[in-house]
Amino acid sequence: MSGTFYVTTPIYYVNAAPHIGHAYTTIVADVLNRFHRLAGEKTFFLTGTDEHGDKIAAAAEKEGQTPKEYVDRISGLFRDLWPKLNISNDYFVRTTDRAHKDVVRIILDRVNQKGDIYYSDYEGLYCFGCERFYTERELVDGKCPDHLTEPEVIREANYFFRMSRYQDWLVDHIEKNPDFIRPERYKNEVLAFLREPLEDLCISRPKSRLEWGITLPFDDRFVTYVWFDALINYISALGFPDGERFKTYWPAAQHMIAKDILKPHGIYWPCMLRSAGIEPYRHLNVHGYWNINEGKMSKSLGNVVRPLDLVDIYGLDAFRYFLLRDMVFGLDSEFSEEALVARINADLANDLGNLVSRALTMVHKYFKGELPKGGAPDREDDELRESALALLDPYDRHMRELGFHKALIAVWELIGKVNKYIDTTAPWVLAKKDRERLATVLFHVVEVLKVVSGLLWPFMPASAEKIQEQLGLGKKGAQLTLSDLARWGGEKPVRPLCRAPALFPRVEEKERKRRAQAAEKVAEEKPMEIISFDEFKKLDLRVGIIREAQAIPKSKKLLRLTVDVGETRTVVAGLAGHYNPNELVGRQVVLVANLAPAKLMGVESQGMILAAVDDGGVHLLAPDGRVEAGCRVS
Ligand code: MSP
Repeated sequence: MSGTFYVTTPIYYVNAAPHIGHAYTTIVADVLNRFHRLAGEKTFFLTGTDEHGDKIAAAAEKEGQTPKEYVDRISGLFRDLWPKLNISNDYFVRTTDRAHKDVVRIILDRVNQKGDIYYSDYEGLYCFGCERFYTERELVDGKCPDHLTEPEVIREANYFFRMSRYQDWLVDHIEKNPDFIRPERYKNEVLAFLREPLEDLCISRPKSRLEWGITLPFDDRFVTYVWFDALINYISALGFPDGERFKTYWPAAQHMIAKDILKPHGIYWPCMLRSAGIEPYRHLNVHGYWNINEGKMSKSLGNVVRPLDLVDIYGLDAFRYFLLRDMVFGLDSEFSEEALVARINADLANDLGNLVSRALTMVHKYFKGELPKGGAPDREDDELRESALALLDPYDRHMRELGFHKALIAVWELIGKVNKYIDTTAPWVLAKKDRERLATVLFHVVEVLKVVSGLLWPFMPASAEKIQEQLGLGKKGAQLTLSDLARWGGEKPVRPLCRAPALFPRVEEKERKRRAQAAEKVAEEKPMEIISFDEFKKLDLRVGIIREAQAIPKSKKLLRLTVDVGETRTVVAGLAGHYNPNELVGRQVVLVANLAPAKLMGVESQGMILAAVDDGGVHLLAPDGRVEAGCRVS
C-alpha cells in the first residue's frame, strides 16, 4: 500500500428524490475512489444524507409525516440508488445518527471552550430557502441570489461562531496550499470573498421556531444551525475523536462538491476545524452544474433528470462514461440525451466495443482462445507497446488533478491507435500466410486491451471487468493495479480467452425513441395494473361515522378523526383545508378498514378514508342513505 485516500460527497438534503446532479457528484467521487484503489492505496469513501433543518421539517409537513418518518423514507431512496449506480461507498452517514449527533456536541463544546462562541441579539435578513442570514452585500437587487426571493427581517437572540477570528489564518492557508481549493477559479472566488471582512456565523436556531435539529450542549432552548451540524459528518463518520479510521483517513481527506456549496465548505468548515483544533482537509474539489436547456435543473421547473430512467434505457456504464467524458471538471455542462446517444454510438459502440469484439473474435477464430506469445516484435509492435505504457503517467496525473475527461481522451487515443494497428497489420491476411506474426500482432492487441480495461475500470467498472473476464485474466477490477498494467505481458491469462456479446450496442435514433416510449408506457401503465376479483376481495371497506375531528398540531394538512366502524378507529386524514373539523362530526364515510397502520405526525392511523379528488378539492365518499356504522361495502 502506498498511501491513503479519503473522499466524501456532500450529504444530500432529503427534501427531494435524487437527480442527475446528485448522481454526478457521487459517480465522480466513486471514479476517484476506484482510481486510488487501482493505484494500490488504502481508501475510504463516504456519502450520506443531511436530515435536519427548516427545509426538511417543511417537506415532512407537506407530506403529512413526522420529520423522522419522512427522513427515513427519503434517505432510503438515496441509499438504495447508490448500489444501482455501482457506487463503492464504504459508509453511509445520516445526520440523525446518534453517533453523528454526539460528535456535533463534542465539537460545539470544544469551540465554546476555546471562547469562539458568544450569545447575542441579532437582527438580520433571513432567507428561509437557504436557512441563513444574508448581508446586504450578498443580495442581488435585494433578493437571495439562489431563491430570487426577498429575505425576511428577523430579530432574535442566537449563538454565534467567531469565524472572523480565523480569516487571516484561512487566507494564509489557502495561499500556502494552492491546491487546497481546486480548480483555481474556485480558490480565487473564496479569496475574493475573504478580501472583505468575514462576519461571524450564526450557529443556532431557537426551538420556538425550529425543533428539528441537534440541541446545543450548552443551551437546550436552541438547536444547531443545519450547516454547522452537517459539515461535521465528514469526521463523525470516521469515528472522531478517537476512532482509528479518523487517524488513518482524515489527513488524506478530499471533499467533492458543486459550486453551490463552496462557501460553507471553503470558509465555514476550515474555520470550524481550526477552532476545534483539527487539521484542515487536504483538498476541496469543486465542480460545475449540469444544466438543462441552459438553465439549472430544478423540481419547480419540472426539468429534473432522473438517473435511473437513463440507466434503464442506455445502461449504467454508458451513463457513467458520458457524465465523466462530457463535463470538464469545474465547468458547467449542458445535459442532453442526444449528446449521450452520440457518445454511446461513437466512443463506446464503435471505438471500444468494436475493438474488443474484433480482437476476441480473432483470438478465438485463429487460436481457439489459447493465444501464443508470437515472435520478436517489429517496429510497429514496439510503437504500440510504448504508446500503451507511456499512457500510464499522464493518466495518473490527470486523474489526480481531476482531469477526468483528459484521462478518457488519452485512453481513446490509444484505442484509436490499436484499431489502426489492426487495420494496417491485417491479421486476417496474416492468418493465411504467417501464423507466428499473427500471434505477435494479436498478443500486442490483447496486451493493450488489458491496459485499456484497467484504466477504464474506475469509470466503467462492470464493463471493464467483463473485458478482463473475456481476456481470461485471473485478476479483475482493483486487483489489477496500475503497476500490474505497467508490466507488459506480465499478467498471463489463467483461462482461454472468450468471445462475448457486444459490450455496447449502438443506439439508433429510432431505437432510442422506441425504448424511451416503452419506458414511459411502463411508467404510465403502472397505476392501471389489473387485479383479480380475489385480490379486490381482500379489501375490507366499511361505512364509518365520524365521532370526533381535531386538527393535528403543526400540521397544515392533517386531521385526526375518531371513526365508529362498529369499533372505534383513529384515522389521520389529509382533510384540513378542505373541511372544518366541526362539519365532519356525524358524517358517514367509507373506510379501508384492513390497511396496515401507519404513523403520520406521530399519530397512528388505523385506516384510510376514501374521497374523490379533483381540481376543485377533496370530496368525501359516502352511501346515499343512512346505514349502520360498520356496514360492509361490497
Ligand atoms: N445538504 C447540503 C450539503 C451538506 S454537505 C455537508 C446540500 N445538499 S443538496 O442535496 O442540495 O446537494 C447539493 C449537491 O448536489 C451539489 O453540491 C452537487 O454535488 C449536487 N448537485 C445538485 N444539483 C446539481 C447540478 N445541477 N449539477 C451538478 N451537481 C449538482 O447542499
